[in-house]
Amino acid sequence: LIRTIDWKDDGVYIIDQTALPDELKIIRCEDYERMAEAIERMEIRGAPAIGVAAAMGIALAAKNCNNERELLEELGRAYKRLRSTRPTARNLFWALERMRKVWEDALKEGSNALKEKVINEALAIAEEDVAVCRAIGKNGSALISDGDGVLTYCNAGALACVEHGTALGVIRSAYEEDKKFVVYSCETRPLLQGARLTAFELKHERIPFKLITDNMAAYIMKKGLVNKVIVGADLITRHGDVVNKVGTYGLAVLAKHHSIPFYVAAPLSTIDLNARPDSVIIEERAPSEVTHIRGVRIAPEGTEVLNPAFDLTPNHLVSAIITEKGVLCPPYDLSFLFRQGNN
Ligand code: MRU
Repeated sequence: LIRTIDWKDDGVYIIDQTALPDELKIIRCEDYERMAEAIERMEIRGAPAIGVAAAMGIALAAKNCNNERELLEELGRAYKRLRSTRPTARNLFWALERMRKVWEDALKEGSNALKEKVINEALAIAEEDVAVCRAIGKNGSALISDGDGVLTYCNAGALACVEHGTALGVIRSAYEEDKKFVVYSCETRPLLQGARLTAFELKHERIPFKLITDNMAAYIMKKGLVNKVIVGADLITRHGDVVNKVGTYGLAVLAKHHSIPFYVAAPLSTIDLNARPDSVIIEERAPSEVTHIRGVRIAPEGTEVLNPAFDLTPNHLVSAIITEKGVLCPPYDLSFLFRQGNN
């Protein structure tokens, strides 16, 4: 089993997701700067995977620093650099805060102990992600029945996490339980995570699926081919508003119109209790992602473009949120989960 991201021989190995599905290329990151570039270039992407990558970036910074007096400054530099890579995915900030707390708590223990703790924490974040995705899969698979048509968007699969996935983790778990259903994967313009990555994973697992272009969703819902939608999330607010790949909101509106349940699968680490719908930073990406498809220009030169990478689906369109702690239903006040000390 190849993991999306793995710490081995004092380096971080990641699958280069920009090369998929043509080539399964592995990149070795030796320092935090390379890790930050990998997140920016989307060689690694998907909220949980970005969180693990950032944590491992901090671990690389600790490992590489041989000057004891500079260790804290170096960790601070890595923290700042990694924070600046992508602005929307909550797990990035969650993982970096968790790493910072570990090194701050270990300040008095000497640099060797501190380095060891930082590296162990990054490895723990990765291992927890695997267990959390498995739990999400198990909780969510109860919602899938024989004969279902399940529509998904973007890639919330093994490639967006360490393995298994969130939305696709639910689909994987249901398939492992021998349920018979069909998946509809939207291609997900502009970067085609659905066509390149979700289709790659589904094909590899032999899960029955059909690829559609994004604008076909309404038509196949109307035809009755879809009876469930399940997507991942980059950030969830305290009251269950869901920030995910741009286009998710449109699917939620369509699902509502056709009375189809709209499920979101995500770990608790994706919830930001302080975020409000109007305070979320939506990443704007390069115009070339819209004017070009995989390097080929499809619009006239000089065409002006809008390219927001995410949108926000208001809570009233979300039928349930599938987490590692169970399936949560509206009305959402997700803060109670944290008061119980679950995160
Ligand atoms: O821009 P990306 O590819 O990082 O966006 C990914 C998504 O929107 C995913 O749906 C989300 O991160 C959930 S992944 C488990």
